[in-house]
Amino acid sequence: MATRNGGAFVLVALCVSGLALRVAGAREPLMPAMYVLGDSTVDVGNNNFLPDCSAECRANYPRYGVDFPTHKPTGRFSNGYNLADQIAQFLGFTESPPAYASLPPERILGQMKTGINFASGGSGLQDQTGKHWRVYTMTDQLEKFTCAVQMMGNSSYDLISRSLVFISVGSNDLFEYVDGNATLSPSRNDTAFLQGLVAAYKSYLQELYAAGARKFSIVSPSMVGCCPSQRFAGAAKKDLDGYRCFGTANDLSRQLYPKLHSMLQDLSADLAGMNYSICHSAAMAETVLKHAASPTLSKPDGAGHGVLRRRRAVRDGKCTKFASVCPNRDNYLFWDGFHPTQAASAEAAFALVADQGLYVHPINLTRLAAL
Ligand SMILES: *[C@@H]1O[C@H](CO)[C@@H](O)[C@H](O)[C@H]1NC(C)=O
Ligand SMILES: *[C@@H]1O[C@H](CO)[C@@H](O)[C@H](O)[C@H]1NC(C)=O
Ligand SMILES: *[C@@H]1O[C@H](CO)[C@@H](O)[C@H](O)[C@H]1NC(C)=O
Ligand SMILES: *[C@@H]1O[C@H](CO)[C@@H](O)[C@H](O)[C@H]1NC(C)=O
Ligand SMILES: *[C@@H]1O[C@H](CO)[C@@H](O)[C@H](O)[C@H]1NC(C)=O
Repeated sequence: MATRNGGAFVLVALCVSGLALRVAGAREPLMPAMYVLGDSTVDVGNNNFLPDCSAECRANYPRYGVDFPTHKPTGRFSNGYNLADQIAQFLGFTESPPAYASLPPERILGQMKTGINFASGGSGLQDQTGKHWRVYTMTDQLEKFTCAVQMMGNSSYDLISRSLVFISVGSNDLFEYVDGNATLSPSRNDTAFLQGLVAAYKSYLQELYAAGARKFSIVSPSMVGCCPSQRFAGAAKKDLDGYRCFGTANDLSRQLYPKLHSMLQDLSADLAGMNYSICHSAAMAETVLKHAASPTLSKPDGAGHGVLRRRRAVRDGKCTKFASVCPNRDNYLFWDGFHPTQAASAEAAFALVADQGLYVHPINLTRLAAL
């Protein structure tokens, strides 16, 4: 029954999300600024500026951006707008605030008034995640944020406390931990690993709070084992009603969410005036994937109408300028081997904004913004 309701919700979200977010774009912003931290799900071009980052950790070449308003790649790991853009649009901005690394130093102070995006593809909760590309780690991102807040001086407090801190991170820690490995050591300790991630998250939130942040929107890692790149990894098994996913990786996502949620509950009880909204992305993805897998609703490769397919919209392996892409990209969940399409992130954004307690707890972004 829960799944049926969930499925219906997802369909409704699909139909109205674009409209709801566009209407929102016409208003005065609901919050003065938005600060974005995290990984490739929300990076809008920071990695373009990394010296040691190869094509693998950048998205500044075709066919990324094919559905972006300019039809040009920007560094977003998407065919169009990503989740940060879509949340920004809900708040009343035209798109995500600009990438920190794209700003000349003299523009940082002024840009802090409406927001900056610090996110870096490949980064994780642990500093060692993404290390081989020397990505901007969460520690780096935090340092840049707190430094910019300090530059603003006393005037920052009111602004920062009324603004949104939007964080989407953690999947890369899980990817690197399992590493497509069928023979993960039986003596490994998943509990200790997950506790370490939660402790890192907690320390970042404490730092953000100390810098004046009060309103947090947190996106927990999704079903990482169902990304096209992971689906046929070593330990893949039938997960999600027979849909072949890397079950070990999915189990980590499932276990992480309650730990993150209870950390947030404890933290907000300790830190006066802190409010948060957390999205259970794994549960949401599970619903969408089961729905997409339902033979009565769509054939895996049939001409689905409004049902997001499970494969990627980039047809031949890697997303390069030579890749052919599916014409009906809005019907796909995944753009490349790891990242959602613009349509799938629009759906997630709509849930973050308007969910009534199914996937987003304890309040949705509409309520968080209104506090
Ligand atoms: C800024 O904050 C410091 C420390 O709280 C305080 O001593 C100082 O008077 C403040 N300055 C202004 C202009 O409010
Ligand atoms: C898989 O995990 C085992 C045990 O942790 C390790 O010894 C092995 O090197 C890993 N293999 C790969 C390809 O990462
Ligand atoms: C795994 O780690 C947890 C937390 O650190 C610890 O309580 C538990 O005893 C460990 N389990 C094993 C089998 O070592
Ligand atoms: C906001 O946070 C405060 C504590 O920091 C809490 O008492 C209050 O219930 C929260 N508001 C909502 C709507 O969750
Ligand atoms: C947000 O959450 C509240 C409380 O659960 C709910 O009444 C409302 O319909 C939700 N959606 C929007 C867009 O406010």
